[in-house]
Amino acid sequence: MASEMHSVSPETAAATYRLYREFFDLAEKKRRWRLRDDIPWKQCNPSLDPAIADVVESFCAVELFLPDYLGKFLPKIRANRGSAWFTANWGYEESKHSLALGDWLIHSRHRSEEQMADLESKLYEHEWNLPMDSALGMVCYAMTQELSTWLHYRNLRLLVGPGGDPALYRLLTYISVDERAHYDFFRRIVKLHLAEERPETLEQLRRVLNEFAMPSVYLLADGRRRIEAVKSLHLFDAELYYQDVYLPILADLGVERSELRRRASSREIVVLSGADVAV
Ligand SMILES: [Fe+2]
Ligand SMILES: [Fe+2]
Repeated sequence: MASEMHSVSPETAAATYRLYREFFDLAEKKRRWRLRDDIPWKQCNPSLDPAIADVVESFCAVELFLPDYLGKFLPKIRANRGSAWFTANWGYEESKHSLALGDWLIHSRHRSEEQMADLESKLYEHEWNLPMDSALGMVCYAMTQELSTWLHYRNLRLLVGPGGDPALYRLLTYISVDERAHYDFFRRIVKLHLAEERPETLEQLRRVLNEFAMPSVYLLADGRRRIEAVKSLHLFDAELYYQDVYLPILADLGVERSELRRRASSREIVVLSGADVAV
């Protein structure tokens, strides 16, 4: 687990802070949404396919691990104000996601208050730990995880459609836009690191991108069933990960596929657990 802080140069720290201020200004101006007022809660659809409600519950479960995401990452970057303030703001936005998904499950009557309380208590028996052992690795992981999360929500939104459940459709629209903005911020930070320390950053990207798995749902007792449900609805699998996450990230960063081949091996990149362990 991450035990050491990754020190960044004063220039990278200053650039990170500038990027955060841009991110924050844009979020305040264009991206804020209100849970209570901006979602047409009266238009929840209790007859929506229960398989979709199950997936909403899985996504909600991933978002509910927020205390671990924040509590474990923030201490690693506390001396970098841009990263630390971003993480605080990110936590606020992510906290809304689990509230919105949980509220939809209850308003739509796909779950009762008791069922949601039960999910929460089971979930907090488990603890999520940082998947990478350095702050730089975690930034690469967070970038990949945010784009993958965006893809999950984007595909679920397309599946629901505007007429399927107007409340769910609207909240998935807001959440997808947030996830895409999170990805964009992390992508800019990874680009800063590529400019400053390309070999080290490529090494972290190699580890993350070639063995990516989404966080936390595998911690649940029925995690495998939940992951299979996501695959069967074509929301996320190995091929979608490769086409809509892996390749776009390389293009956005200006990194060649050849740069991500493992140094010790000549074998081609094999996308591993994006399929197996992802929600
Ligand atoms: Fe989220
Ligand atoms: Fe996010």
